[in-house]
Amino acid sequence: MKGVVWMGAAAAIALAAGTAWAQADVIAERRAGLKRMGEHMQAMKAVVDSRGNVQPLAATVDDMIAWYRTMPQRFPPGSDRGDTRALPALWNEKANFETVNNNMVSQLQALRTAAASGDAAAFAAAYGQTGQTCGTCHRPYRQRIS
Ligand code: HEC
Repeated sequence: MKGVVWMGAAAAIALAAGTAWAQADVIAERRAGLKRMGEHMQAMKAVVDSRGNVQPLAATVDDMIAWYRTMPQRFPPGSDRGDTRALPALWNEKANFETVNNNMVSQLQALRTAAASGDAAAFAAAYGQTGQTCGTCHRPYRQRIS
């Protein structure tokens, strides 16, 4: 009987460790993806600033749209703990988080339309709005670096 209890405890510990590993992966993956989003924004800014050709940026925006479509599922329960700057409010207000994220996808679709049109001024305006939309999620749901 004692042996059974012991084995149960060992299995529970193994399971908990496995979960912790899985969460670490989820956090590392989402941070890597978000870092890529930041790099995309910087690359696009360089084109805006130099008044370059915006048309090829449609492919960059496609990668961003695909990423943000996967955003909500990248914050499963339990992934609030670990090497993350996501705030607890994100899990407490999951529906609002998803609404804010849907706005991000819509804004990126507008950015993509502007890129495909080749209209640099329209792209620059949509780019500015896109940056602001990032902030609408970071303010409530991402911890600031002090
Ligand atoms: C719907 C919410 C949401 C939107 C929209 C959003 N972010 Fe974030 N972002 C987060 C959260 C939450 C984190 C913290 C993730 C973590 O540490 O686990 C984060 C982290 C980041 C990071 C840091 C990644 C790292 O190295 O740890 C960068 C860079 C970033 N976001 C860029 C952007 C850019 C650029 C946009 C707009 C194109 C954007 N984000 C839009 C929620 C969002």
